[in-house]
Amino acid sequence: MDDKKYWSEYYSTHKKPTDASTFAEFVVDKLDADKTLIELGCGNGRDSVFFSQNGIDVLAVDQVDDEIDFLNENYGNDNLTFACDDFTNLDETSNVKIKDNTFDYVYSRFTFHSINEEKEDRTLDWIAGHLDGLFFLEARSLNDPMFRKGKLLSETENFTTHYRRYMDMGKFISKLESRGFEVLYKIEDKDLAPYKDDNPYVIRIIARINEK
Ligand SMILES: C[S@@+](CC[C@H](N)C(=O)[O-])C[C@H]1O[C@@H](n2cnc3c(N)ncnc32)[C@H](O)[C@@H]1O
Repeated sequence: MDDKKYWSEYYSTHKKPTDASTFAEFVVDKLDADKTLIELGCGNGRDSVFFSQNGIDVLAVDQVDDEIDFLNENYGNDNLTFACDDFTNLDETSNVKIKDNTFDYVYSRFTFHSINEEKEDRTLDWIAGHLDGLFFLEARSLNDPMFRKGKLLSETENFTTHYRRYMDMGKFISKLESRGFEVLYKIEDKDLAPYKDDNPYVIRIIARINEK
């Protein structure tokens, strides 16, 4: 099953936004009201709903069209829009007028480990060109026990129920710095994102880039 189909099936039975993630709770007090945020891979919208309830103007992107339609119908409002798109190819595929926009914040939780390295590089280029502010990222690291499960695809990739590529924090920071980001905060640890019996090892990054 390809990943898009996996997430379509998953969200067909997990439609409604649940409580905000621990990462969103960590991030929210670093945001100023009335600023703009794009979420890359919003899933059931839980973190985007939370940010919009805290006064942020949010555009939430995901590839699962049925879920995006449901979220727009039930949770969309003047400061919360959901858009169906491939966040790794926004310049080419954009379903919404974001091409020339600059955002104050880019937020990604548990989505960069869903994409291969070529897509990661393209996405980082896009962020560097459309962000005048802070980039917040949380994703599974190479130390995550999940990496030792399922089928190993490469030194950083595996397949369990779906594809994952585990993050090398040092390498990721080098990629950010080579694009002009300043890394303000970094951590790699477990106990940051426990869910049921999964206690993933994750990286969290906050990086700033300002318009040249
Ligand atoms: C693990 S879920 C995380 C959802 C949400 N950020 C959260 O923390 O609850 C990964 C999400 O990323 C989305 N996704 C993965 N690759 C994508 C892509 N290239 N474009 C858009 N969405 C993508 C999936 O559809 C899925 O909703």
